[in-house]
Parts: sequence; C-alpha cells; structure tokens
Amino acid sequence: MRGIILAGGSGQRLDPLTRITNKHLLPVYDRPMIYYAIEQMAGAGLDRIMIVTGGNHAGEFLRLLGNGSRFGLRHLDYAYQDKAGGIAEALGLAEYFAGGEPVVVLLGDNIFEYSIAGAVQRFTADPRGARLVLAEVDNPGAYGVAEMRAGKLVRIVEKPKEPPSNLVATGVYFYDTRVFDMVKTLTPSGRGELEITDVNNGYLQLGELRHEQLTGYWADCGESFEMLLRANNLVAEHGANKPIA
Ligand code: G1P
Repeated sequence: MRGIILAGGSGQRLDPLTRITNKHLLPVYDRPMIYYAIEQMAGAGLDRIMIVTGGNHAGEFLRLLGNGSRFGLRHLDYAYQDKAGGIAEALGLAEYFAGGEPVVVLLGDNIFEYSIAGAVQRFTADPRGARLVLAEVDNPGAYGVAEMRAGKLVRIVEKPKEPPSNLVATGVYFYDTRVFDMVKTLTPSGRGELEITDVNNGYLQLGELRHEQLTGYWADCGESFEMLLRANNLVAEHGANKPIA
C-alpha cells in the first residue's frame, strides 16, 4: 500500500496566517503541522509516501522535509497541484505514484491521537473498495457528514446546513486502485472543487464503502482558529499518533 498526503489548498479559513505560507507548514505545538501526517504514515509502516502540494510555497516542503530521513524514510515523493482544485483533484495527481497499489490518503491538516496502523492492516488484509474512519463531533456541519439509516451508512453529505448526524468523515481514506478512474468522472462542486465526498459516495453506490469508528481525539487543524488552538492543546497534553495498546 502507498501513502498519499494531501497538503495543498489555500487555507482560507486560517487567513491571515496562511497569507505568506502554506497551512501545513504552520506550527502545531512543537512541530510543523505536516510532520504529524508523515509520522502517522511512517508509524503505520508505510515507506512509500507522496506529498501533494501547490501554490507559492511548494519549495518550502522540500526544504523542510527533504527525503524524509528524520521520519525514518529513505525517500519522499512529491507532486505539484497547479490550482487549488480540491482534495479529489490532488489525489488524482498521485495516480502514477500509486502504481496500481491500494492507497491510504491522509489530509495533511488532520491530527489523530492514535496510530492508524490498525486500519492500515485491516485494509491491507482486504483491499477492496474504500474505507472511511468516522468520528463523532459537535459541529458536524463543517465536515462530510454520514447519513445513517437503520445503522447503515447511506450517504455522505458535504458540509450540510442541516447535518443528518454527528458522525463525520475524518481525513483518512483507504481506496483500491479504481479510485483514480472514479476521480476522472467527477465534476466540480458548488465551491469549484473536486470533492472527496463524491469519490466516497461513488464507492457507496457500488456497495463498496466500509467504515469504522475512530478511537481517541481527532483534529482538523484547518477548520478554524478554534480547532487549530484545540489541536495545539490536545497534542501538548496527550501527544499524537500513539500506538493503540
Ligand atoms: C475535507 C472533506 C470533508 C472531511 C474533512 C476532514 O473538508 O471535504 O468531507 O470531513 O476534510 O478533515 P475540508 O476541511 O478540506 O473542507
């Protein structure tokens, strides 16, 4: 399995912090935000990792991360996204890198209390379709929200005004090799982006979207200043990417 970290976007919700740098380079407690995603991937045993970024600060990633030796990696791959065309578009840029293997995709602004190693192992054992990790939150309208019927996931709705539940899709996704064909069928959403939620709903329509529930905290640092602050405090107090005992 190959690991893809998505670290593009304009970071508008954190303006003006993101005016002169990329969101994923901002500090979270004692490290740049992107470190957590790389540590998460490397800690889950992935040794082929691509970072997709864009904008004016792409070069800074190379300067900061180099070949990934500080994460125990021998090599890092990079791809450049010309425009902020959405998470799914960024994922599409990793098709060649994936080389026909299943992928784990991690949004570079997501920090988790615990390692995703267990979920990686579960998907590696049966790498069909797609797999989501859902978390319960008190502000679901800011995320992709799971609509459940009789305990079954029937749809993901992106940032709905009236959320159908408190369960949302975290920014870790597992896909089989068909994901890249799926991305090619997408059309831009109202915000002009190719949405990862449309990819997930595509798998759902095929009856091939599985999900599991998160253990521990989860922070989408790019969601708001509030979440960024909370992420700093959570990391300082509890650490991040810890192995599940
Ligand atoms: C993205 C996805 C959303 C998901 C979230 C998790 O939103 O579109 O479905 O719940 O990441 O971090 P974004 O934060 O990029 O707007």
